[in-house]
Order: sequence, then structure tokens, then C-alpha cells
Amino acid sequence: MTPTIEFPEDFLWGAATSAYQVEGSPLADGAGPSIWQRFCHTPNLVLDGDSGDVACDHYRRYLDDVKLMRALGLRAYRFSISWSRVLPAGRGAVNARGLDFYERLVDALLENGIEPMATLFHWDLPAALDDRGGWLNPDIAGWFADYAGVVFRKLDDRIKLWATLNEPWVVTDGGYLHGALAPGHRNRFEAPIASHHLLRAHGAAVAAYRAQGKHEIGIVVNLEPKYAASDDPADHAATGRADAYMNLQYLDPVLLGRYPERLQEVFGEAWPSWPADDLKSISQPIDFVGINYYTRNVTRFDATRWPVRAAPVRQKLSTYTETGWEVFPQGLVDTLLAVKERYGNPRVYVTENGAAFFDPPVAANGRVADPLRVAYLHGHIRAVHEARAAGADVQGYFAWSLLDNFEWSLGYSKRFGIVHVNFDTQERTQKDSARYYTSVIASRGRVLADPPLAGSSLAPPD
Ligand code: BGC
Repeated sequence: MTPTIEFPEDFLWGAATSAYQVEGSPLADGAGPSIWQRFCHTPNLVLDGDSGDVACDHYRRYLDDVKLMRALGLRAYRFSISWSRVLPAGRGAVNARGLDFYERLVDALLENGIEPMATLFHWDLPAALDDRGGWLNPDIAGWFADYAGVVFRKLDDRIKLWATLNEPWVVTDGGYLHGALAPGHRNRFEAPIASHHLLRAHGAAVAAYRAQGKHEIGIVVNLEPKYAASDDPADHAATGRADAYMNLQYLDPVLLGRYPERLQEVFGEAWPSWPADDLKSISQPIDFVGINYYTRNVTRFDATRWPVRAAPVRQKLSTYTETGWEVFPQGLVDTLLAVKERYGNPRVYVTENGAAFFDPPVAANGRVADPLRVAYLHGHIRAVHEARAAGADVQGYFAWSLLDNFEWSLGYSKRFGIVHVNFDTQERTQKDSARYYTSVIASRGRVLADPPLAGSSLAPPD
């Protein structure tokens, strides 16, 4: 029998983006450069020399994009605020025109009945702060809290959901350890230091919020469940290290007030010891956890892989996305239930979930057929339902991404949007996945009981 699926009336259905990936005009109206501006304009760091200079031109087209969100039936929009638009040098003088952009965006969202969820840091650190050591400088916790305070004062009367950081693991692994992301360092001693200061910054921003904010604040992490490839104890140990490194490194300090012991084994001599008081401020109560889920990892021991000495095992019978990630909806159920068990069932939003599949650069006749992405959404939103049915407190789901956009060091080569963007003309076209998502929202998930491509809702437009 087909199971009945129904999400509650107030479930938060949304889509997500981040500032540098969609806005364009990175230096407009007095903004200062970010490390991504600098990274993109350093030769050979980003595929094809791409940059966020124009991106989706959302900075200038935000009103049309908000109308598009409304047409899709979205109840919420998760976006990030660019620190160097608000404080061009990262600290000190406030650039009112930068802050005004976010005020206009939030007002437009609210006028269209769309709940804003704002992330304060989605990787675009002000370049001026990187010059002072960036996430390696202990003072950054205070700088971040000051910046957060400026934004809270201006917008907390209208924004009810705040996130401090997006994916600190990616910031440190990509930015400080392996160097594929800005600021492009490759240093095994730096990664745990940057992690700790990210967490201290999170704690300082939460404290600033409690002093003046009236709504809710949390943190967004990317979680990727790890499954041992065999019964071999070496594979099990490798799986434990990979899990501690990626999944527990941030949530354990924030929600349990301690680092997982295995991190010592992961980082070896590069693992520092930190004052106990730091963990106290890192672990003050938050209101929700944002979880970004894309894929799982089947893990085996591999002595050559720093720092976890673990490698992924390709699954021959699985579908893989264009970024090489296995499609595995059950991993989202497992992740949400693991968070429920380990951390006492905190309130959770799935703040990102989606897939890059090949789509043509130009939409033909107003349509982009993306059956693999439709199937991806179908499987993963069903997974959210299953986790809720098993008691996980999941209150919302955000598709990554609203728009095809700048995929960091992969430039514009990977399309994650449910809405297609023609990067020559900036024309937006709803992909079949957007239409499908609209039908999921409108039916409160009931259409998920049927196979994803059943019914007529995906018929091409006239
Ligand atoms: C990030 C996004 C990114 C997406 C796909 C997440 O790690 O938050 O900025 O575009 O994954 O790679």
C-alpha cells in the first residue's frame, strides 16, 4: 500500500542561495573585497577563470527573483549576508548602502509572504580581515560578533531565523587544509586552529544575539554519514575518524560542549589544546541546527589520505551527480536520526539539499527537463518525512539551490538550481524540478506518495 505522506501546514518549504554565489556586483555601493573576490581574480584558482563578478546578477534583479520565489510557492528563502558589503574593511565603519540592500531584500520577501532565513557567514570573509590572519587570528570572534550586532540591530525586527556560520568544516578543510577554496592555504596545523576560531565566533555571535535579538539563532553544518566498507577493523577505525572529522567536529562542541576525542587521532601533533572556557561560550544554547545534506560516504582505510586516512569507495550500482556525489536518500534519514539520538532531538531545518546534474546552458522552448533532479528531490523529501515519522524534529526543508549559480572553484560548470539561469542573458527558466517542488509544497507533500514523474504536472508549458 502506498504510504500516506503529509507535512504539517506550518512546515517551512524554502530554497537557499549564498551572497557570493548569486549576487554579482561584489564591489558595488561601497562594498569591500572579500577573499572570494581575491581568489577568483588570482589566475588558475577557479575553473575557466570564472568569478562572482556577475553571477546571477541577483543584487540588481532581486525583486524579480522574489517574484519568482512567490510563483514557486516558497514559504521561506535562505540567503547569506556579505560581511564586506556591510563592513567593507570587516570591522569599523559601517557601509549603510550595503546594509540597505539586505533591508530591501527582506522587505520584498515579507511583502510576498516569504520568511527570510539569514546566514551571517557563507565563506566570503572580508579580504581586509584575511590580511590580519582571517580565521587564524583569535580576535576574529570579536570582529564577527561586532558585525553580527550591526546586522541584528538593523534587521532583527524582520528576520526571525538567523544562522551564524555555513559549513565551518568546508571553510577549514577547503580553505586551510587542502586549499581548493579561498583563502587557499594548505597547512595541517592551521585547520584545527581555524575551526576553533570559527566556533568561538559562532559563540560570540550567539551571545551578541541573546543581548539584543528577539527571535532564533542556530548554526548550519554539512553532514555526510560514513558507512564502513567492510568488517575489517581498519575500515571501521577509518570510518570513525572520518565521522569525527566531518560530522562531529562542530556539533559536539556546540551541542555537547566538548570536542570528540578522535580528533586528537585525526590531527595528531597538529591538534592543539584549548582553554575550557572557550568551550563554555561555544556551547551556549542555540535554537536550531541547520543541516546541509548531499551524499553519503562508504569508507575504507587509506594511509595516504590526510588527515583521516580514509577513502571513499565508489558504489557501482548507484547514480552519481556531476560533482561525483552518490545519490543516497537513506543517508538523510540516517543523518537526521543520528542527530536526534546524539544531541537530544534538537529542532532541525534541512538548510541545503540538492544535486548538480547536466542541464543545457540554454533552455529550449521555456523548459528544462531534469528528471534526475526531480527524482533526487522526491527521494530526499520523502527521507525528511520518514525521519519526522521516526520522531526527528525537522521543521523545514530548503532546496539547494534556487538558481544555478557560481559553484566556487568549479565556476559555472555545475548547475544546482531548480531554476535554470542562462548566464549570457540572465533569463530564468523553471526546471521540471522547480515545478515538481511547487507541487510538493502545494500538496504538503502528498504527491511524494507517487513515483516522481507520475501525473501531468510536469507536462511542458504551452
Ligand atoms: C555549500 C554551497 C555549495 C553547495 C554545493 C554546500 O557545501 O553551502 O555553497 O554551492 O554545497 O557544493
